[in-house]
Amino acid sequence: MKEKIEAILNEINAFTTESKEELDQFRIKYLSKKGIIPSLFGEFKTVTPEMRKEMGQALNSLKNSAQDKFNAIQEQLENKEDVTETDVDLTLPVDFSELGSRHPLSIVRNKIIEIFARIGYTVSEGPEIEDDFHNFTALNFPEEHPARDMQDTFFIEKNPDLALRTHTSSVQVRVMENSKPPIRTISPGRVFRNEAISARAHCIFHQVEGLYIDKDVSFADLKQTLLYFAQELFGKETKIRLRPSYFPFTEPSAEMDISCNICGGKGCNICKYTGWVEILGCGMVDPNVLENCGIDSKEYTGFAFGMGIERITMLKYQIDDIRLFFENDQRFLKQFESAL
Ligand code: DAH
Repeated sequence: MKEKIEAILNEINAFTTESKEELDQFRIKYLSKKGIIPSLFGEFKTVTPEMRKEMGQALNSLKNSAQDKFNAIQEQLENKEDVTETDVDLTLPVDFSELGSRHPLSIVRNKIIEIFARIGYTVSEGPEIEDDFHNFTALNFPEEHPARDMQDTFFIEKNPDLALRTHTSSVQVRVMENSKPPIRTISPGRVFRNEAISARAHCIFHQVEGLYIDKDVSFADLKQTLLYFAQELFGKETKIRLRPSYFPFTEPSAEMDISCNICGGKGCNICKYTGWVEILGCGMVDPNVLENCGIDSKEYTGFAFGMGIERITMLKYQIDDIRLFFENDQRFLKQFESAL
């Protein structure tokens, strides 16, 4: 029996496998009820009393060896299985997600901020949900002004005094209320109007408002500031032209055209063969507005201007449909990465 045990022990020690089936056969062969080791325990009854102790120990250690072997290989196979089950091939190269690009509206907004920062303008912001006072009343809009109409303005149903701001001019009111002249600031931001969406118009768009208040600010300062801006953004050869216009919050008011940046003023379909394209509204801040915002209109004067970022971006890059800005189509957005 002793030799038998030794022979089996050698077999067990030498056993190795990578397959579950073979391991199972090992278990059946040595450890199952009808396996070799339990049957040896059966034979144990026939062992002489002098040999019992030795044989008993040998048998127990054989059984432990078989069980340990079985456990060790089973664990190895399970670990291996864990890895293959996740189906992850750790040797594969990393799947780099593509780097995004800056939105063309952000590129142009940043450029506008940078141009005005060079002549001392700070950036200020205001809320997109605005009250009637800051969006209309302080800016001298008469009670019956059509811009207050339901058709242009998104009102907040629960509180008709609140609306989505229709322009960033509301920010100039807030700046004037909260600071003392000299004031030199631009306010970029999102605005909302109840307009049908088309290639030319959208219900959400972006504006930049400009405001300069100090002693003795004149219309000549406004004109020179806007000429500097137009030439920085569209090129040194750009010319400007101011046409009289009307806004409730400026007096006098004007609209500014630049010489068409596509045809250089010769005439093309972008400028409708006039050589000029409109880019902003401007004027001297109406004394009423200064007073509404707590600034002494006898001591201070100032100018303001406002422009649409979409419009300027469309002119700069010859984009012919405003809806493209809001569709998040990578093929469109990617074209502006290093454009400015
Ligand atoms: N708020 C005007 C608009 O949304 C734009 C504008 C015109 C702003 C003239 C101004 C300005 O500051 O002086 O159409």
